[in-house]
Amino acid sequence: MKVLVTGGAGFIGSHLVDALIEEGHEVAVIDDLSAGSEANLNPRADFHKADITDFEATRSVFAEVKPQVVSHLAAQTSVRLSMADPVRDATVNVLGSINVVRACVEQKVERVVFASTCAVYAGAQYIPMDEGHPVLPESAYGASKYAVEGYIRMFALAYGLKYKILRYGNVFGPRQNPDGEAGVISIFTKQFVEGVQPTIFGDGTKTRDYVYVGDIVKGNVLAIRDAGDNETYNLAGGKEITDLQVFEAVRKAVRSDMEPKYAHKRPGEVDRSSLDYARARAKLGWSPTVELEDGIGDVVAYYRATH
Ligand SMILES: NC(=O)c1ccc[n+]([C@@H]2O[C@H](COP(=O)([O-])OP(=O)(O)OC[C@H]3O[C@@H](n4cnc5c(N)ncnc54)[C@H](O)[C@@H]3O)[C@@H](O)[C@H]2O)c1
Repeated sequence: MKVLVTGGAGFIGSHLVDALIEEGHEVAVIDDLSAGSEANLNPRADFHKADITDFEATRSVFAEVKPQVVSHLAAQTSVRLSMADPVRDATVNVLGSINVVRACVEQKVERVVFASTCAVYAGAQYIPMDEGHPVLPESAYGASKYAVEGYIRMFALAYGLKYKILRYGNVFGPRQNPDGEAGVISIFTKQFVEGVQPTIFGDGTKTRDYVYVGDIVKGNVLAIRDAGDNETYNLAGGKEITDLQVFEAVRKAVRSDMEPKYAHKRPGEVDRSSLDYARARAKLGWSPTVELEDGIGDVVAYYRATH
């Protein structure tokens, strides 16, 4: 299949590109390299440096590539930046995504697979949250991602575009940027290795649902096929893991005895998060396979090998 991956030079997108090429698909990438890097890019991918907020640039890549399926991952991914500059966040995440979906319709793309997020749910009314859990984002990032879900459903109704919306839990793995404010496993790993005392925001009891990047990639590879179209799916580990448990797991992996320091919880951060992935298991045949400790081992090995 001919697959166009937006954000294919980023953390998750670059692993997805590798897996698609491995499976024998023809893969093109759109990325503006604002957060991604050419070092992540598979040399067998057809790379187009373009900004999705520029409709003419986006549509001309679509016209040249003529993809059958589009995996749309390009985004502004920082919750903190989304709160500091919600207009910038919406420009990339909402307007940029509308450009991508318009180009899909124009080029008669069969299916778009969208990288959404558990940040659309925010405050958990029950745990684990299924796809029917009320949506009430507490960050501009969550709001922008949810807005895109709405546009995709609208484009599907108006033009017959098929879609899958994948709401990821907290993804971790090699290539995640340790210098951002998200990706706590990469951040802790870097801090431990460099002898910097890691900071836990809150009292350590805040929970997240971690899912290994290889499992997210498998979910995306399943999603480019036709089974289970026009649906929204949680992709997550299905376990509630505290900040302190993550800290301990990374500390064990790097064999350190450093203690954490604590700081105030940051705006837009929820107290608890865990997702029910039963729908993805039933309709896509997807389940997470990598345990937190094993995935953390990979992150530490990757960090040591590249620094
Ligand atoms: N990492 C997570 O835990 C997580 C969780 C839920 C959802 N997601 C979603 O998964 C997707 C990938 O996230 P990631 O963690 O790999 O982030 P990332 O920042 O590594 O990847 C995003 C990519 O998009 C590119 N990009 C940004 N703005 C662009 C623009 N205007 N035009 C073209 N390219 C642009 C960046 O250069 C980068 O390569 C995002 O849509 C994100 O919202 C990630």
